[in-house]
Amino acid sequence: MKIIMLGAPGAGKGTQAKMIAEKCGIPHISTGDIFRANIKEGTELGKKAKGYMDKGELVPDELTCDLVMDRISHDDCKNGFILDGFPRTIPQAEALSAALEKAGQAMDYAIDIEIPDQNIIDRMGGRRACAVCGATYHLVNIPPKVEGHCDECGGPLILRDDDKPETVKNRLSVYHTQTQPLIEYYSKKGILSEVDGTMEMQAVFDAIIKAIGA
Ligand code: AP5
Ligand code: MG
Repeated sequence: MKIIMLGAPGAGKGTQAKMIAEKCGIPHISTGDIFRANIKEGTELGKKAKGYMDKGELVPDELTCDLVMDRISHDDCKNGFILDGFPRTIPQAEALSAALEKAGQAMDYAIDIEIPDQNIIDRMGGRRACAVCGATYHLVNIPPKVEGHCDECGGPLILRDDDKPETVKNRLSVYHTQTQPLIEYYSKKGILSEVDGTMEMQAVFDAIIKAIGA
């Protein structure tokens, strides 16, 4: 099963993608996580991506597309994968379609997690991410068992640089102009399902599982 997660920054794409990946036994591919890992390791890609990410801008398509095309060609993607944060522009969506078409394949589902901007602004301020393994929490909604420490690996929980309020506003505006058109794009392809992202986590998950028939 090949699934795309759509939705504004903070809609819950990462949270849900991780749960779906586990249930369906397919890899979770988050471009944001890949960029953050590269920044941490100080790679050339990380150095290039950091400037855009810190401002809440998109990393250019040419840096992003090759990375994803390479990742989905790996063996572990043979039975499907879940894309979280990609595609984010029409050219990225077209590059993805073209690459899959070459292999006689196509995406099966695009799940759009819908949530108003104000809910997002509230959520982002409370999000904390593990500096070691990247697991995410929310101070109020999904608190860690021990304050300030990751449940999975014990690493310190930090506020992502791009979760600062000014940057969140810019990310939302970039989302509305560059990414939201993908909702119509996948609706026309007949693979779009919309899910109410304001529900609690498990209810959002149940709605997605119903939409993909898993
Ligand atoms: P990326 O890492 O993809 O960030 P994003 O899309 O802005 O999304 P987030 O990770 O912030 O939110 P999410 O939807 O995953 O929400 P989460 O599950 O964490 O990208 C970062 C940057 O990288 C981009 O700005 C860009 O610069 C660059 N980039 C990445 N991909 C790119 C691409 N394809 N092209 C170009 N540039 C790219 O949830 C948010 C919070 O809410 C958490 O605290 C969570 O615990 C909580 N929460 C989740 N669900 C619920 C719920 N149902 N109820 C209550 N709280 C909830
Ligand atoms: Mg995410």
